Amino acid sequence: MKNTILVTGGAGFIGSNFVLDWINAGLGTVINLDKLTYAGNLENLEDIKGNPNHIFVHGDIGDRALLAKLLAEHKPRAIINFAAESHVDRSIHGPEDFIQTNVVGTFHLLEEVRAYWNALVAANPAEKENPQFRFLHVSTDEVYGTLGPTDPAFTETTPYAPNSPYSASKAASDHLVRAYHHTYGLPVLTTNCSNNYGPYHFPEKLIPLCLLNALAGKPLPIYGDGQQIRDWLFVKDHCSAIRRVLEAGKLGETYNVGGWNEKANLDVVQTLCSILDELKPKADGSSYKEQLTFVKDRPGHDRRYAIDATKLERELGWKPAETFDTGIRKTVEWYLQNQGWVNNVTSGEYRNWVNKQYSGSAA
Ligand code: NAD
Ligand code: TYD
Repeated sequence: MKNTILVTGGAGFIGSNFVLDWINAGLGTVINLDKLTYAGNLENLEDIKGNPNHIFVHGDIGDRALLAKLLAEHKPRAIINFAAESHVDRSIHGPEDFIQTNVVGTFHLLEEVRAYWNALVAANPAEKENPQFRFLHVSTDEVYGTLGPTDPAFTETTPYAPNSPYSASKAASDHLVRAYHHTYGLPVLTTNCSNNYGPYHFPEKLIPLCLLNALAGKPLPIYGDGQQIRDWLFVKDHCSAIRRVLEAGKLGETYNVGGWNEKANLDVVQTLCSILDELKPKADGSSYKEQLTFVKDRPGHDRRYAIDATKLERELGWKPAETFDTGIRKTVEWYLQNQGWVNNVTSGEYRNWVNKQYSGSAA
């Protein structure tokens, strides 16, 4: 097998960070398969434009013929599946795309990967006993459901209890991946990560939305009482965890990935405002915190997520490089320095979403 990997969803937030890091570290060729939904953006990959080690393919993970062709042609040693519909609020407004990509799409992808792996085994029987190929499925902590204030953090053995159409569709895909290992022996790995933030984050999610709204003088919408808790991980740390699991993870296992940074949403946005007050003070001397606005809560809103990443630390020696304070500062700086990206990303479709989600929603 050549030193080529296939990444799906590599024009999205986490996928593009992963591809950029992989190519910039000279780790080999990346075939980047992405449908370019509203969340996919080729401008995320501008830094590696023209790099012969990056081959972008516009297409759907559910397109079996395309997958078969790509696998036969490029013979990747690994596939990292980032492609998904990923926004909880969108899944509440319209779950169908989530089922189509996250469940049906992952199924089609798995079927083609199974056929590809069977061909690898036929050509080299040692591949069955000691597989070199890897299918790494990128999932979320949201599959575990919600925690009470004093519950222990999610471990890899916490039962699945997804609460939103998004998390239910991700849970379904995780189960399919697990079954393909158990039934067919497919060499799979699954990672369940907490909330990411960092460069190239599409501004429909809490942190980039509030950052850009703050700068534009708009309200910073806080759902409900703002006391919902998430564990936050800087996106580059998620990427390093995925590389580590790919390199040393035990086949068929799942690994929780988290930053040990549990924060209430209100605290996250207030921290963001304090950094902006320092780096880009408002002309009238007021704080961005004055733009905080409590709005109607999300239906079925999970109260608390917390990840126990001990297994990944203990077994594979991974640790996040950033704390929340260092990561959030880097993120704010990145957005301030990349106004061109920001202006282009806030396109017509994005504005339609913001109008639909936030019009008349003040609490
Ligand atoms: P994103 O929405 O920013 O990007 C998703 C990418 O997948 C986009 O480029 C989109 O065009 C592409 N895509 C969507 N449907 C496709 C299809 N049918 N075929 C091919 N490409 C398709 O998402 P993200 O935040 O980068 O998340 C990436 C993965 O990580 C997802 O699987 C998500 O569930 C998981 N995850 C995200 C977070 C987070 O905080 N963002 C945390 C844990 C896990
Ligand atoms: P989000 O970024 O959508 O990620 P997820 O729902 O996958 O955790 O939301 C993070 C948290 O912020 C979540 O508790 C919902 C909340 N939130 C707001 O309070 N206001 C907003 O405008 C958004 C988008 C999210």
